Amino acid sequence: MQPLPLLSYFAQQAQAKLPADVWHYLQSDAGSGLQLQVNELGWQSKKLLPRPLRALQQANTRCELFSEQWAHPLLLAPVAYQRLFHADGEIGSAVACNAQQGQMMVSSLASQPISEIVTQAQQPLWFQLYWQGDRERTAALLQKALAAGVSAVVFTVDAPVKQALIDLPDGISAVNLAQPLSMRPVHMGQSQVFDGWMTQAPTWEDVAWLRQQVPIPLLLKGLMHVDDAKRAVEYGCDGVVISNHGGRVLDSTPSVAAVLPAVVAAVGSQCKVLVDSGIRSGQDVFKALAMGADAVCIGRPYIWGLAAEGAMGVAKVIRTLRDELEMTMALTGVSNLSELRQVGLFE
Ligand code: FNR
Repeated sequence: MQPLPLLSYFAQQAQAKLPADVWHYLQSDAGSGLQLQVNELGWQSKKLLPRPLRALQQANTRCELFSEQWAHPLLLAPVAYQRLFHADGEIGSAVACNAQQGQMMVSSLASQPISEIVTQAQQPLWFQLYWQGDRERTAALLQKALAAGVSAVVFTVDAPVKQALIDLPDGISAVNLAQPLSMRPVHMGQSQVFDGWMTQAPTWEDVAWLRQQVPIPLLLKGLMHVDDAKRAVEYGCDGVVISNHGGRVLDSTPSVAAVLPAVVAAVGSQCKVLVDSGIRSGQDVFKALAMGADAVCIGRPYIWGLAAEGAMGVAKVIRTLRDELEMTMALTGVSNLSELRQVGLFE
């Protein structure tokens, strides 16, 4: 029997260790699993051409974004309630991220205090902001993150209607929120969506307001349409994260790989373009960079590592993806990320 690749091994370990409802919360998409496949196949269907005999002794995967230097272009995407998966929680992921010289986006729904996560990480982290129903509450959460010393704010805009729900066990909650956002009650005949949820959802005017409140780099996460990416630039954002939230919000969207080239062509010279959703190997990371992404975020795979082995598991997942990226660079004759962006992909 073939040995399992390390990431698949961690996925198996995670499934074996986690309660069934937590595993389902982690793995599910907004439909019946098809969107996950679309996301993964988007990257996997692109092809690479080997280019042997190049001298690559000095090659590296170094990456610079917003004056931060990392050893590689892999970021940990924001994932809520990480103590659900392992007692190490967000602190475990952050410590692993630092050990691997990378960067992490800490979720608004983190299960440990943001100040403690940043302190334990021993490096400034990025903060992922969810709209808190109104400007006052959103500003309060933002201030808490800024006071903790975060170095960028990633405003997630694709999930005004939250679908991935789980009954949280006692002792696990979104500890950085003053109080959980409760939905406005609707009357008979009113729409739960438009009269309820959407009255508490942000709009472009709120993005303009937020830009005034954030003195550090601001990115919008969860864009797929070229016009929205252009608008993010017009509203003064420093970056966009092209993402369909790992397929967890709207079913039947294209893969990120399918929309990325048009976004890069439209805004790639004006802001940083990051991606996530369906990245499962260093080859996928390579392809996203070759298609013009400045950096690549991973979601579920590092949580498999966290569930399997805590902080050490997260570190191993990052290192594995980086090793695979380096191997792919070696086999395609690429010595750094600028060169990588010039590589053509095959369909
Ligand atoms: C998420 N994601 C997410 N995104 C965000 O902006 N804030 C959040 O709190 C969460 N929480 C969350 C929980 C879980 C269990 C998952 C799986 C995902 C989305 C995440 O940041 C990212 O966009 C996707 O996970 C990327 O897709 P892959 O790598 O999981 O396929």
